[in-house]
Amino acid sequence: MSDKQFDVVVIGGGPGGYVAAIRAAQLGFNVACIDEWKNAKGGPALGGTCTNIGCIPSKALLQSSEHFEHAGHAFADHGIKVEGLGIDVAKMLARKDNVVKQNNDGIVYLFKKNKVAFFHGRGSFVKASDAGYEIKVAGANEESITGKHIIVATGSNARPLPGAPFDEENILSNDGALRVGAVPKKLALIGSGVIGLEMGSVWRRLGSEVTVLEALPTFLGAVDEQIAKEAKKAFDKQGLKINLGVNVGEVKSGKNGVSIAYTDAKGEAQKLEVDKLIVSIGRIPNTIGLNPESVGLQLDERGAIVVDDECKTSLPNVWAIGDVVRGPMLAHKAEEEGVAVAERIAGQHGHVNFNTIPWVIYTSPEIAWVGQTEQQLKASGRAYKAGTFPFLANGRARALGDTTGMVKFLADAATDEILGVHMVGPMVSELISEAVVAMEFKASAEDIARICHAHPSLSEATKEAALAVDKRTLNF
Ligand code: FAD
Ligand code: NAI
Repeated sequence: MSDKQFDVVVIGGGPGGYVAAIRAAQLGFNVACIDEWKNAKGGPALGGTCTNIGCIPSKALLQSSEHFEHAGHAFADHGIKVEGLGIDVAKMLARKDNVVKQNNDGIVYLFKKNKVAFFHGRGSFVKASDAGYEIKVAGANEESITGKHIIVATGSNARPLPGAPFDEENILSNDGALRVGAVPKKLALIGSGVIGLEMGSVWRRLGSEVTVLEALPTFLGAVDEQIAKEAKKAFDKQGLKINLGVNVGEVKSGKNGVSIAYTDAKGEAQKLEVDKLIVSIGRIPNTIGLNPESVGLQLDERGAIVVDDECKTSLPNVWAIGDVVRGPMLAHKAEEEGVAVAERIAGQHGHVNFNTIPWVIYTSPEIAWVGQTEQQLKASGRAYKAGTFPFLANGRARALGDTTGMVKFLADAATDEILGVHMVGPMVSELISEAVVAMEFKASAEDIARICHAHPSLSEATKEAALAVDKRTLNF
């Protein structure tokens, strides 16, 4: 047995792991969290992919690049004159790094406040014992700790393109994509998923000529078709060149950039020469160095840790959450699972409702949704009513100068229960929460239609779309 014994040991300090550790500590457990992420100086950088090379830095760059775009294109309409507009990429990246650091430091503070013991290094299973599971921590020093319960929250890594590994100089994962030191003249993205659209938007706004190569023939297949079409129209207008149905062939990285051979949707051979390439074709669960074999922890064929609906693994008292298990790879999904697992360990009934996990793509226009799409409802044969309301008819959107997009409600034809809410437009990342709350409480579209919404606000579009389900919009 090791010298340090804990009730709960969490491996991984991303949004799943650090939140699980805090919740377990709140419930009175003696908790340790192990995380190996290093900052530029080799010190700890808690928060995982989300904080270091994911959600937070990407949103910082999206904000900076949006300001730049507004200054260049939108300010003139307001009578604001801008002369000598330029972008200092080094400063923009330094600001982003500072935002990341504030989040890293915030988690260190939260661990101290909640008395979570933090170990900086790589955690790996050694063996099961009567006291629980022995975990080796390989960091500056090597030590061994034991936990009665283990929560694995080791996250995911970017999936490389076969034959074209990330060099983070020319062929970039999300990590390199957030550190490009100068605006590339020509940028390609392989994969028009969430990262492709967000990172493509950042660099297009700053002046790159951006080409996106997507294997599937449909744009954003998981998004409601009507919403995806509206978004595609907006991206096309912005100059994002999105090529669907392509087959990427040889990718060569050299002194002058990257050359990409591909066949387009018509089957014609094409070649693209760019300064940088971002590969954003999904992520793979990460169990590198965890040594799951030593205790017989079961993985599936994708390398994800096998869990049941309650995040229980194949081993007693070993749990797994977040990107390393099935389900959407989203920070808030990881957090919810972390809280639920800590509560289950305490004998409570933690629960995650997978039907009401919101999705947001932070492009401009933003895209957000919760629940089922129209195509899913059709496929399942469920009778539904739909109602839409365009931001074009919303006073606040007009005042903001951004009337792109719409809010769409899907409700059960007989009971009026809300089955899905889909949005594309300004600030819909914030508007979607109302729909999530409504669906959690099994609200009907009429419930939303009868609630007083502030005027003038974008949220009035939500109320009006709910009214539209019953064909009685007031402002359209
Ligand atoms: P991670 O955040 O990956 O954390 C895992 C941690 O475990 C890491 O710190 C890692 O170093 C550590 N670790 C791994 N193995 C070990 C080990 N053996 N020992 C010790 N430590 C270990 N999601 C959203 O919801 N909203 C967004 O806006 C969003 N934007 C994103 C943008 C980008 C560019 C990317 C790449 C992802 C984005 N995501 C977003 C997804 C989100 O980042 C992940 O879903 C989330 O980070 C998963 O959390 P996690 O705790 O499961 O894993
Ligand atoms: P993704 O799954 O969103 O998109 C990958 C895209 O690449 C798909 O459209 C797929 O068809 C395409 N693709 C796959 N192989 C290809 C190939 N060989 N050639 C061309 N296209 C190919 O994955 P992405 O963008 O890498 O992001 C990973 C995950 O990170 C997301 O699924 C999401 O869970 C999370 N994320 C969430 C964000 C948010 O919530 N705002 C932001 C960024 C990432």
